[in-house]
Amino acid sequence: MSDMLLFSPLTIRDVELRNRIVVPPMHQYSAVKGFPTDWHLMNAGKFAAGGAGLVVVESTKVERRGCGTVGDLGIWDDAFIEPLSRLAKFIKQQNAVAGIQLGHSGRKARARRPWEGDGPLPRTSEIDDWEAWSPVAPSAIAHSDKWPVPKALERSEVKDLVQAWGNAARRAHQAGFEVLELHGAHGYLVHEFLSERSNQRADEYGGSEANRMRFVIEIAEAVRTHWPDNKPLFVRLSVEDNAGWGPEQSARLAKILKTKGVDVIDCSSGGITEAAPILGKEIKYNYQVPLSEYVRRHADIMTMAVGLIIHGDQAEQILRDKQADLIAVGREILNNPNWPMDAALKLGVEGPFRNVPPQFGYWLGTRAKRGFGTMPSTWQNGLQDGLQDGLNENRKLL
Ligand SMILES: Cc1cc2nc3c(=O)[nH]c(=O)nc-3n(C[C@H](O)[C@H](O)[C@H](O)COP(=O)(O)O)c2cc1C
Repeated sequence: MSDMLLFSPLTIRDVELRNRIVVPPMHQYSAVKGFPTDWHLMNAGKFAAGGAGLVVVESTKVERRGCGTVGDLGIWDDAFIEPLSRLAKFIKQQNAVAGIQLGHSGRKARARRPWEGDGPLPRTSEIDDWEAWSPVAPSAIAHSDKWPVPKALERSEVKDLVQAWGNAARRAHQAGFEVLELHGAHGYLVHEFLSERSNQRADEYGGSEANRMRFVIEIAEAVRTHWPDNKPLFVRLSVEDNAGWGPEQSARLAKILKTKGVDVIDCSSGGITEAAPILGKEIKYNYQVPLSEYVRRHADIMTMAVGLIIHGDQAEQILRDKQADLIAVGREILNNPNWPMDAALKLGVEGPFRNVPPQFGYWLGTRAKRGFGTMPSTWQNGLQDGLQDGLNENRKLL
């Protein structure tokens, strides 16, 4: 047992996470016509084997029109269930909990991969269903000059989409996932409904705050009819989008979502405008943590903090300060897929190698015992004193 909160288990509904470390959804841009490839298995697998409590598979699209890029994962048809189940099964075999995020890119659909220049995709012969992939949104308002004007969804299409999210939840359950996250952030479809900038509908899905919230609330209701009561449901929000939607609105929405069976708000920011998807301040360690703290306190709901949480002691402090219940480590876990094991070692947790598979945990454990003082390469400067200096330096930056 450890007295570190980061390594204390958390049970949400009937699902127990072995620790508070979450791998947040991260697009791999590597699917083929929506189907996962070996890359996805390797990617999810290495994070699960690295010791995270929960591994959330990237934003997986509830309809074809919602795909952001040619490489997005899909879940709009039953044919996706079996291939996705391989990911869930492998994650669980590593004693991590398997999660998946459901998403729809709305007016930011049909885009390039980020490393190919971001922005809308130029038409190519590679895409055989160009028209079927036309971007849709609450209103015919482009994200910015660089993006195409989306088609405004008919009222009946909005209703169909709500059902599409529900059906996707059923498929995620059948594929064996245990945690479901709805993507309501980053300027994608759900966020587009929430924001006055992108939603100027005249029907019951636009206008007042209550009307703009209707889409995500109906989605949560539809999802809960298909997603079992004993499995946790998360919603990711851009708690602050710097364009009219902020923490107060987010907390009000979180309170309502809680009554609809949502357990955790994953607190992110930005994305509705072309401006950098961040708060107006400098980006630094913990930059989105205050958003998590605000929602947690004002909506009385569990939250997940994310965004430049890089060090184990930094994560531990967020939990101790009651700013979040879960810690998502994104890009840093790309840097070090064994981050949980590494953090356990640095925080002095007993048996840091026991939470990873014996295929490598055994050898690292014996090396630690018989290694005559050698340290892992991730141990700053290779010396304990150096590590302490490094962490103290980081504390100063916080
Ligand atoms: C390669 C990559 C892909 C991402 N894909 C998604 C995604 O599918 N869904 C989502 O909500 N956020 C996505 N994000 C955002 C991350 O989940 C996370 O919120 C962000 O990287 C900030 O956390 P970090 O500073 O720990 O990386 C992505 C981030 C990266 C780096």
